[in-house]
Parts: sequence; structure tokens; C-alpha cells
Amino acid sequence: MRVLIVGCGYVGLPLGAELVKQGHEVFGVRRTNAAETELKAAGIQPLVADITEPEELATLPKPFDWIVNCVSSSKGGSEEYRQVYLNGTRSLVEWLSATPSKKFVYTSSTSVYGQTDGSPVKETSLTQPTSETSKVLVETEKLLLDAASKGTFPAVILRVAGIYGPERGHLFLQYLKNEAKIEGRGERFINMIHRDDLVGVIIAALKNGRPGEIYNAVDDEPVAQIHFFRWLSEALGKWMPPFAAETENAGRKRGLTNKKLQNRKLKMELGYQFKYPTFRQGYTAEIQRLDDAGLLNIDLEPR
Ligand SMILES: NC(=O)c1ccc[n+]([C@@H]2O[C@H](COP(=O)([O-])OP(=O)(O)OC[C@H]3O[C@@H](n4cnc5c(N)ncnc54)[C@H](OP(=O)(O)O)[C@@H]3O)[C@@H](O)[C@H]2O)c1
Repeated sequence: MRVLIVGCGYVGLPLGAELVKQGHEVFGVRRTNAAETELKAAGIQPLVADITEPEELATLPKPFDWIVNCVSSSKGGSEEYRQVYLNGTRSLVEWLSATPSKKFVYTSSTSVYGQTDGSPVKETSLTQPTSETSKVLVETEKLLLDAASKGTFPAVILRVAGIYGPERGHLFLQYLKNEAKIEGRGERFINMIHRDDLVGVIIAALKNGRPGEIYNAVDDEPVAQIHFFRWLSEALGKWMPPFAAETENAGRKRGLTNKKLQNRKLKMELGYQFKYPTFRQGYTAEIQRLDDAGLLNIDLEPR
């Protein structure tokens, strides 16, 4: 297949490398050529375009069989989200209207679920987030679902949980730096997926995803924050983080939600088998990687 990865970054680059290994012709888009050497080393053909600029999209060498939109607004508020996710995706849909691909996978986020009661959440659950940024993601999904419902645009939506892996994993990195805090009583659930599994899930969605369908991309085990830190504490032989009032984190971009993401649809329909079914396997691998590289400096603060 001729594949276009739009936003060839933390997830897009290993995704492209894997697709190249599987024999596909892969192109990767970023806004600058800063990562050209890295992309080429992985066998990915680098392209430069900003998807929010239709005239830049027009320069890309269409047609493509498979397209993955995994651009990310790494920072910024709802205006930047609107620009990158909503307007960027709208430009892609318009750009592809004359020459549609066989499959278009979009990496949305589980932040579209605003549940705060720790309830199980599946793809049919309510999506009424309170944060402005997550509302933009709901609008972006709707744009794609509307296009898919007309039968001319084969969009598949993945609602991706917190991505962790090499150099990623917000709570883990905070914990290593002695900056982590247990919020309230630590009962809030965390939902995660290892980067390598997300790569596998995207490929499964390209192959088996049904246009117009949504799949939660999350591993098997939502874990309460306190249990996550307890596992890390035992694995690393390091103190538990201190407790802090929940309000200290209330200003976060995606809002405080509490929910247990379910992945049954992903497993049944896409037939994906997780390499790291829970954070235990995933973080064991990451801790091992850091240790092997001499980067695991456990700083045991006196209590
Ligand atoms: N991180 C999480 O826990 C999480 C959770 C749920 C969903 N997601 C979603 O998962 C996907 C993958 O995330 P990631 O961590 O791989 O993101 P990332 O590393 O930040 O990569 C995003 C890439 O998008 C490119 N990009 C940004 N704006 C662009 C634009 N306007 N036009 C063209 N390229 C653009 C960036 O390249 P340049 O800067 O070089 O242009 C970058 O390489 C994203 O869609 C993200 O929203 C992430």
C-alpha cells in the first residue's frame, strides 16, 4: 500500500517504520524538515506541509491507499486545538474529496469522555466533556463521522488513552523526578496504552477497521492512581509520592475525569493482541530499558 502518515512524530515515526518493514511505501508529513534524517533512516519518505494550509496540502503526491492523521497540538489551548485538529482535519477531508483513500484513521482521544464517576466507558458511552479542548475533539470526530456516513470517506476513529513508552508517560516521569503527587485519595482511574501497542492498533485499524466506526485504543487495565504508584514504588524500591488536594491539578488542559475505559470492541473487531496488556508489562520493559542504558537513577529522598 501507499501510505501517508500526517504528523509523523512520537507515534507516527515508529508506525511508519513498522509499515516499511511490512513492505508498504510510506510517506511522513511534518511542518518542517527538522526530522528528515530520522524519517529517511526508518525508510519513510519525508514530506513537508502544514495541514491547516490547504495550498500546502495540495503539493503532496496523491493518491494514497491508507492515510493516518496523527498530528498533535502538543501545547496550546482550545484555539490551537481548533486550528490543528478541527480545521486541519477539515482541510484533509476536502483535499481528499476527489481522490479518497481506502482507509483514513484518525487518532482522537479518550478525553472526549467527560465521565467523573469512575464508571466503565465504552464507545457508545456519552461524550460530553467539560474542557474546551476536548469539545473540539468531539467536533472533529463528528466532522469525520458525517463524512463517513455519506459513504465516500472511509474514516475510522481511534479514541486513544494516555500514551506511554520511551521518554513518555507523564506520571512515571514525574515520579522519577520526585515531583509526583497522589491526588486526593488516589482513587481516580488512569487509562493507558503503550506506544508500540498504539502502532499495532493503528495498523489493525487500517486493515480491519470499519469506516464510520469508533474504537477505544486502551490496554486491558484501568488502574487507580494510588495502585499505579504502589506498583512503581515496589518495582523501583522508591518511596510513594506525597498526597495532595485534588484541586492542585484542577487547571489541567483536559479536565479531571474519572472513568474505566473498555477495549472489547478493539479486541473483537480489529483482532488486536496487546504486546503490553497492562502497565505492568509496559513499564517493566521501560524500566529495563532505562536501567540497561544507565539512565535509571533512583533518588531515595529521606522521609
Ligand atoms: N499523548 C497522549 O497521551 C495522547 C492521548 C490521546 C491521543 N493522542 C493523539 O495521538 C496522536 C499521536 O500523538 P504523538 O504523541 O505522536 O504526537 P507528537 O509526537 O506531538 O507528533 C505530532 C506530529 O504532528 C506534527 N504536526 C503538528 N501540527 C501539524 C500540522 N499542522 N501539520 C502537519 N504536521 C503537524 C508534528 O511535527 P512538526 O512539529 O515537526 O510539525 C509532530 O511530528 C495525536 O493525534 C494525539 O492527539 C495522544
